[in-house]
Amino acid sequence: MATSYHAVYGAWNTSSDAFWGKAAEDIDWYRKPNRAFDGTLGVYGHWFADGETNTCCNCLDRHVEAGHGDRYALIYDSPVTDRVQHFSYSDMLAEVETLAAVYLDLGISKGDRIIIYMPMIPEAVFAMLAAARIGAVHSVVFGGFAANELAVRINDTEAKLVVSASCGVESGRLIAYKPLLDAAIALSPHKPDRCLILQREQVEAAIDEIRDIDFAAAMERSRQAGRAVPCVAVRATDPLYILYTSGTTGQPKGIVRDNGGHMVALRWSLPNIFGIGPGEVFWAASDIGWVVGHSYIVYAPLLNGSTTVLYEGKPVGTPDAGAFWRVIADHKVSVLFTAPTALRAIRKEDPEGVKAKSADLSSLRALFLAGERADPDTVRWAEAVLGTPVIDNWWQTETGWPIAANPLGLGLLPVKYGSAAVPMPGYTICVLDDAGHPLPAGTLGNIVIELPLPPGCLPTFWKADERFRRGCLSEFPGYYRTADAGYIDDDGYIFIMSRTDDIINVAGHRLSTGSMEEICASHADVAECAVIGIADPIKGQVPAGFLVINANVERDAAEIEREVIGLVRDRLGPVAAFKTAICVKRLPKTRSGKILRGTMQKIADRESWKMPATIDDPIVLEEITLALNARGIGAAS
Ligand code: COA
Ligand code: AMP
Repeated sequence: MATSYHAVYGAWNTSSDAFWGKAAEDIDWYRKPNRAFDGTLGVYGHWFADGETNTCCNCLDRHVEAGHGDRYALIYDSPVTDRVQHFSYSDMLAEVETLAAVYLDLGISKGDRIIIYMPMIPEAVFAMLAAARIGAVHSVVFGGFAANELAVRINDTEAKLVVSASCGVESGRLIAYKPLLDAAIALSPHKPDRCLILQREQVEAAIDEIRDIDFAAAMERSRQAGRAVPCVAVRATDPLYILYTSGTTGQPKGIVRDNGGHMVALRWSLPNIFGIGPGEVFWAASDIGWVVGHSYIVYAPLLNGSTTVLYEGKPVGTPDAGAFWRVIADHKVSVLFTAPTALRAIRKEDPEGVKAKSADLSSLRALFLAGERADPDTVRWAEAVLGTPVIDNWWQTETGWPIAANPLGLGLLPVKYGSAAVPMPGYTICVLDDAGHPLPAGTLGNIVIELPLPPGCLPTFWKADERFRRGCLSEFPGYYRTADAGYIDDDGYIFIMSRTDDIINVAGHRLSTGSMEEICASHADVAECAVIGIADPIKGQVPAGFLVINANVERDAAEIEREVIGLVRDRLGPVAAFKTAICVKRLPKTRSGKILRGTMQKIADRESWKMPATIDDPIVLEEITLALNARGIGAAS
């Protein structure tokens, strides 16, 4: 297939306003925007500022009105509860309108925030779209976070309502959500007015008579009342959602997504990058708690009139390593999008790909991978097993859609293993040295994006313009700092190699080692600590904590290690996968007192390392090496 990528990227480069103005025609507006970008507004400008629209209307009503009501909008496939359910666009609209009426009855109106703390069930998607319908702002919280993280989000959003369920079903384990929610509300200085609780049959949640409302009963009352809830016109720049992601401190940052620019970008991306047309089945095997879930389980497929798969299961263990291939075959999935870690987990259990080869994967055209670097070994394995293109794409919660990819819909460019391919329209990517000077092709440096960011990217952090300026825009004036390091080759292909901050990537989940250090340091016996990410064959990275114990403490080190591991699980959540804590005598530092985390990580990962010239005491690195070796980690000193 010939590629039209260069022509399309060139068209954007010639006139960004004309390009995005044309893309905006694929969205229904109550008031069409007069111009695409206005650089005088907001922190660095706003997209489609004078436009008015509604995201729910574009996801549902529009398709039903166009006569596609019978087309499947969502297929819920839940191996953990042994259930498959199909929802047409008309079914979805009815459910969402009913829930929107419940919201209105609870006094929720335009601009109010709703926290959604739910597992991967259809009601979670209804809850997002019903918020969009009435112009409320949703903030979904991933189930694997602890009560404390949920509390931070309830407080920061000042949510009026929380929508939750009695439990999540992890492979072989039930997670009761309600006790976590109750604990979070107790911890949060801001209290939501109401909680709407969906009782799942696996666990019955205790209901607080005053604050909690039964989801099913409220829906039934609303259904009986049969109230129509029209979509509320919102400004293109009004927030659709807030999604919290790890920053460099313990305080997560609330990424704001607008309504207009977000729809224009996602609607453009699905056919052009992922090669998916209306009516085709697209499956993003992620979680609605992450940005991939927001953009490619919920919004992009529905905006495009495609069918999305909501999968409540894992790549392995529900029941086995053939689960993904079974879902593709059962629902005729055209394109699958997942994280490399999921493939590594499958490969470990089925190295020859026997289960894939015996499934009917004839519908599958391509596999997209994101969330972490797609390592060439995993990509080659997947290509061989699936016989389809396997496409890396690079982006972040902040951008909401791919910064770089190999655009299937425009005709693939030649694949370069280890590269996320080329910039998408809207993005001019540069590599700068620490002083902000452009670096030549092939040289590793800070990856930045020229301002303005395209539609769909964050306009700011929730209630924190200054933090956004400071954290993302001020280090390299005129650019957005991605905090990723990498290089661009002579052909313009982008290679993302590492982070420039303290973020680590654990099973495709973005976590801050700084926030883990804050938790470790809060243990009464810990004098100081360092947390690093060490290589893991399945998860990519896992955290490991090094603890220096207070001088006067004479307790068993193993006991303190267990307590610290428990603390991180309780305060951050199981998703952190913090399972290694090691008590050491001292931490390696420079003479100016900076902890040598990079060198520790190299030792743990058996990479070659040099004794830093500025090290205070070289013996400490030997002690660290021995401590790691005692746990079977790292190379001999
Ligand atoms: N609710 C409650 N707990 C959750 C959870 C949720 N939604 N999701 C994960 N957890 C828990 C797990 O049960 C596990 O707990 P444990 O320590 O008691 O075993 C812990 O959090 C870590 O979970 P996870 O990262 O899923 O690791 P795993 O070992 O259970 O599975 C993989 C490994 C690779 C199969 C899994 O991480 C995976 O499917 N990753 C896909 C990544 C992805 O979708 N990323 C999104 C970006 S595209
Ligand atoms: P998140 O905001 O959770 O989506 O995490 C974004 C970060 O994950 C990026 O800044 C990268 O560090 C990493 N990441 C995501 N996709 C890729 C990719 N395709 N290649 C390399 N790193 C990636």
